[in-house]
Amino acid sequence: MPPPASTSILHRSSPPPPCRMGDIFKPAPKPDSELRKYRLLSPSAGVRVSPICLGAMSLGDQWTKFMAGKLDVKEAEEYLDYFYKAGGNFIDTANNYQDEQSEMIVGEWMEKRGIRDDIVLATKFTTFFPNRHAQQWTEKRIGVNYVGNAKKSLKHSLEASLKKLRTDYIDLLYVHWWDHSTSIPELMQNLAEVVRSGNVLYLGVSDTPAWVVAQANEYARAHALPQFVVFQGLYNYAVRDMERDIIPMCRNNGMSIAPWGIMGQGQFKPAEDLAKKGLRGGATEQSAANKKICDALEEVAKEIGGNTKLAHVGMAWARQMYSATFPILGGTSIEHLQSNINALSLTLTDEQMAKLDKAAPFDHGFPTGLFGVDPRLLPEQSPQSPLLLQVCISTWHGAGHVKYPKAV
Ligand SMILES: NC(=O)c1ccc[n+]([C@@H]2O[C@H](COP(=O)([O-])OP(=O)(O)OC[C@H]3O[C@@H](n4cnc5c(N)ncnc54)[C@H](OP(=O)(O)O)[C@@H]3O)[C@@H](O)[C@H]2O)c1
Repeated sequence: MPPPASTSILHRSSPPPPCRMGDIFKPAPKPDSELRKYRLLSPSAGVRVSPICLGAMSLGDQWTKFMAGKLDVKEAEEYLDYFYKAGGNFIDTANNYQDEQSEMIVGEWMEKRGIRDDIVLATKFTTFFPNRHAQQWTEKRIGVNYVGNAKKSLKHSLEASLKKLRTDYIDLLYVHWWDHSTSIPELMQNLAEVVRSGNVLYLGVSDTPAWVVAQANEYARAHALPQFVVFQGLYNYAVRDMERDIIPMCRNNGMSIAPWGIMGQGQFKPAEDLAKKGLRGGATEQSAANKKICDALEEVAKEIGGNTKLAHVGMAWARQMYSATFPILGGTSIEHLQSNINALSLTLTDEQMAKLDKAAPFDHGFPTGLFGVDPRLLPEQSPQSPLLLQVCISTWHGAGHVKYPKAV
């Protein structure tokens, strides 16, 4: 709920204080933290969010082993308080994170602080969410419709999320992953209904092939339905597949990206730190490929100096690859969170970006590998494709491409 209007203004015993024009239309104070430099969520969603989103998968103590860390309820609230006090208003959770504990923690925290409407709250449906430990789900009950993208799964998951989050609306509801079963018309019609009902404000999609999202958005626009405004997926300096089709699809569909795993899921650290903290998912040692990635990040971090960490360089790299990027940052330590917020001011030079690209070049595969990348991404917008180069020669100008805006 928005803060209640003060009744004292109606029944005032003393005259109101003098009021000048400048008092009413006072400009907002300059942001005191990088996190308060709010940005539009996406080219097709005007809600304003902090430049990083707090990943709530680490809030709770049910997935301790898998996450290589935990935050109990009290610690999670401190973590959330730190983020909020620094200006953070964007939180990402899901129906099943920490066996539902994550949504419960966020819901109780928002209610206790009375700040639900300050927060731009994202959650997800698709994954099976009811208590997976309860024997009844394997022995007595039928769980088949509590998973997937069909209408029944959406209804149950959304109703449960609203209860756990102690709210009557979700700002951004994601399809968590593509189930290869529900048709695009069914999905988009059902999602439009939850938006029309007021239970959901915006739609997002995660871990789904580009062709599905492009087709779903086309269907939505053709039927005057809401489209997906954000794509959430695994994207970092070590895993760049989203550059192949997903980012170009977002650029052409008015969508932003919310990358997860941007810190390499905790692996962007010097080897000695990794040995101390341990790796997620039970891995015992750093892979050779990851070591190469970390070495390149470390070289740039050292060049920048100060307290720059590998993780900071990784975050800056991803933010500079596409202008509408909202990293979802995971973690359990306030110290890391604080340093990540400060690192929002870090901008890598063109030389540093080129150095990182050279150290871990990305293979676009076919057709881009053969016909060249979008010239709007290249220096001088000069096409790589011999076929497009023919156009330049015949017109004696460039091929007419205008550079994409640089990420800020
Ligand atoms: N859509 C999906 O399928 C999907 C899948 C996975 C995750 N997600 C979302 O994305 C969020 C983040 O995912 P993630 O946790 O897997 O990836 P991540 O953000 O890449 O990794 C988080 C890890 O990075 C470490 N870290 C953070 N800041 C650091 C720093 N400054 N220096 C060194 N290490 C640092 C953290 O360590 P400490 O714990 O020590 O701070 C934590 O272990 C999740 O919370 C969730 O909301 C979505």
